[in-house]
Amino acid sequence: MLRSVITGTGSALPARAVSNAELAEQGVDTSDEWITERTGIRQRHIAGEGESTATLATDAARKALESANVPASDIDLIVLATATPDHTFPATATQVQHLLGCKPGGIAFDVAAVCSGFLYALTTADALLRTGSGSKALVIGAETFSRLLDWEDRGTCVLFGDGAGAVVLEARDVAEDGPGILASRLHADGAHKELLYVDGGPATTGTVGKLRMKGPEVFRHAVVNLAEVLREVLADAGVVAEDLDWVVPHQANARILDATARKLGLAPEKVVVTVDRHANTSAASVPLAFDVAMRDGRIQAGQLVMFEAMGGGFTWGAALARL
Ligand code: COA
Repeated sequence: MLRSVITGTGSALPARAVSNAELAEQGVDTSDEWITERTGIRQRHIAGEGESTATLATDAARKALESANVPASDIDLIVLATATPDHTFPATATQVQHLLGCKPGGIAFDVAAVCSGFLYALTTADALLRTGSGSKALVIGAETFSRLLDWEDRGTCVLFGDGAGAVVLEARDVAEDGPGILASRLHADGAHKELLYVDGGPATTGTVGKLRMKGPEVFRHAVVNLAEVLREVLADAGVVAEDLDWVVPHQANARILDATARKLGLAPEKVVVTVDRHANTSAASVPLAFDVAMRDGRIQAGQLVMFEAMGGGFTWGAALARL
């Protein structure tokens, strides 16, 4: 059967890491103790001069291509998830295509689903590969959320960071019990826009705007929606939570990760956690965490890995893959 198989991963972070204590020293009315206790975050990376969503995405993609042993010229599909593109247009994916030296003429576009962006991008790329629109894809999540933050709002500015993660996805004819994306589900509900949004945009204020969030309400929706979509994907694939080797969740808050794992009866040691080092990097968080756990050898070939995320919109989704 034709499946989309993950054959490589990569990630990139801005050079500068900023600790909780540094944020407090720089004038944010907060403390390391509050941030660590409420969120599990200890530091985040913040993009500096010369670093952008496109540069981070390109670095992550280059490393993913190396690990897959695929030359950039073989890539005929790039789906890039971001809510912080370098420019309103063109899509950041087209810049990455050019910067990497991919063959011109392939498909390249961005998807905007905020923190669920990587799940939306992965599911879209999977569908395009399985229907013959491409053969080798890069699926990228890349963000520079630091440029959307209101540094006067301590309820949001401490939570986010910048970074990028990428996977190489290849269409392959595999056996039923072979590797590939086995199931995925995506959802959206636009009724909750006011709980998590950016108060600007080209067609409204004409400015980029700043991120606004009602954190406790987002938290409640996240736990319910994530548990539900995880159950759907498990049922679609005909497996149970105990069969999973790893869960690579969106890294928003350690308490959301714990609550979701508890709701599903997942062993906490099977959940990959990087929120302490990266904070919430929106669309980049799932592929970043995935790359960390691939490179440190935790995730092995043949294992069952669940990805999940929830974000502004609201949007949410999950996908199950065998490596
Ligand atoms: N440092 C110190 N105090 C802070 C603070 C900070 N960075 N941010 C908020 N506070 C204060 C608040 O002002 C409030 O003070 P008050 O009681 O005097 O009014 C108090 O801490 C509690 O605030 P609250 O917002 O109720 O805290 P919380 O326990 O719900 O934690 C979040 C806040 C944002 C960490 C939490 O709600 C959360 O993680 N939500 C999910 C957000 C998320 O992950 N969104 C992205 C999804 S993609």
